[in-house]
Amino acid sequence: MGKQWKICVLPGDGIGPEVTRQAVKVYQTVADYYRIPAELDEALIGGAALEKEGMPLPMSTLNRCRAADAILLGAVGDPKWDDQSLAMRPESGLSALRAKMGLYANLRPAVSFPALEDVTPLPRSGGFDLIVVRELSGGLYFGDKGIREEDGTRSAYDVESYSEKEIERIARYAFQVASQRRCDLVSIDKASMLESSRLWREVVERIAPQYPQVSLRHLYADHAAMELVRNPKQFDVILTSNLFGDLLSEEAAALTGSVGLAPSASLGYTAIGIYEAVHGSAPLLAGRDVANPVGAILSVAMMLRYTYSLEMASKAVEWSVMETLKRYRTADIASPQFSPVGTEEMGNQVVEQLKKILPSVIPEPSAGAQENPGAKML
Ligand code: IPM
Ligand code: MG
Repeated sequence: MGKQWKICVLPGDGIGPEVTRQAVKVYQTVADYYRIPAELDEALIGGAALEKEGMPLPMSTLNRCRAADAILLGAVGDPKWDDQSLAMRPESGLSALRAKMGLYANLRPAVSFPALEDVTPLPRSGGFDLIVVRELSGGLYFGDKGIREEDGTRSAYDVESYSEKEIERIARYAFQVASQRRCDLVSIDKASMLESSRLWREVVERIAPQYPQVSLRHLYADHAAMELVRNPKQFDVILTSNLFGDLLSEEAAALTGSVGLAPSASLGYTAIGIYEAVHGSAPLLAGRDVANPVGAILSVAMMLRYTYSLEMASKAVEWSVMETLKRYRTADIASPQFSPVGTEEMGNQVVEQLKKILPSVIPEPSAGAQENPGAKML
């Protein structure tokens, strides 16, 4: 990316603005270190956009996102809009943004933190490092949906439909991700019951021989949900559909200690991506300085890796979080030895760590120099 960085920040609803503020501080710290001017645009999405502009994804937001290197998103969703039509709910703004920007691959890593062993929900579950590759612009979310009325009763439907092209595109992505990790891919479907899953399995099998270095197995989604809690260490890369990916990635995130810790990247054919924590808008926590900003901060690490190809800067952010978690915890991961710190304080502590770690992993860059030749796209 050029001599100037430009991101579009979409704070959204609930705890979105609070956690995003901490993530922006981290982004700014890295930009300052590289002496690159960072331009931060800010736009409305979700309930915040419904409130001010009457729609969850205003055209101006979409245009501003398209003009940026990357998008940093907080969260969307507010019970205030629960009774609206689907199209007028905050969540539709986010799924429309993902689709309109062509972001079909949602990467959701779940990595256990050694410092948090005492708060993981399962004993002996530590030491895992997996990534969910979730298809993001097709499937049940985008299929035909509606309500029919016959003989005075209503029935509602949502169609799960995947074309061979869509399956092949996400499967290739997952094989590539697996090739750069431990070469182990598990594709998750429900081929015992769903036609769309049968096609999914067939297409994944068909392209597998093009990635001979990657071992592939298939699991039914119900079985996978069980295996994930039974033994998360068995997974390297999980490939799955939009809805199954939504469910399983949140399950995987919780295994690390809190869903508040998990980041995500939504990517497509270019380096422009949406970076956001896996958690939702948590309206009950909003405005109280109690939310965990780590998921949002680690999403900045993903941005540095995938949009800016700055692998070492990305690692520096991840290491800063790991160091910080040894001494500071937010309420969701607090334990008797740690009195919880607030969202803001947690963000400040990560920034302090980062300022110490950056010079030890990246030689002081000259003004404007930023590329790390060793960085890879995936
Ligand atoms: C997520 C969220 C979204 C999804 C909603 C807010 C549209 O749950 O990012 O996981 O279902 O994809
Ligand atoms: Mg979700």
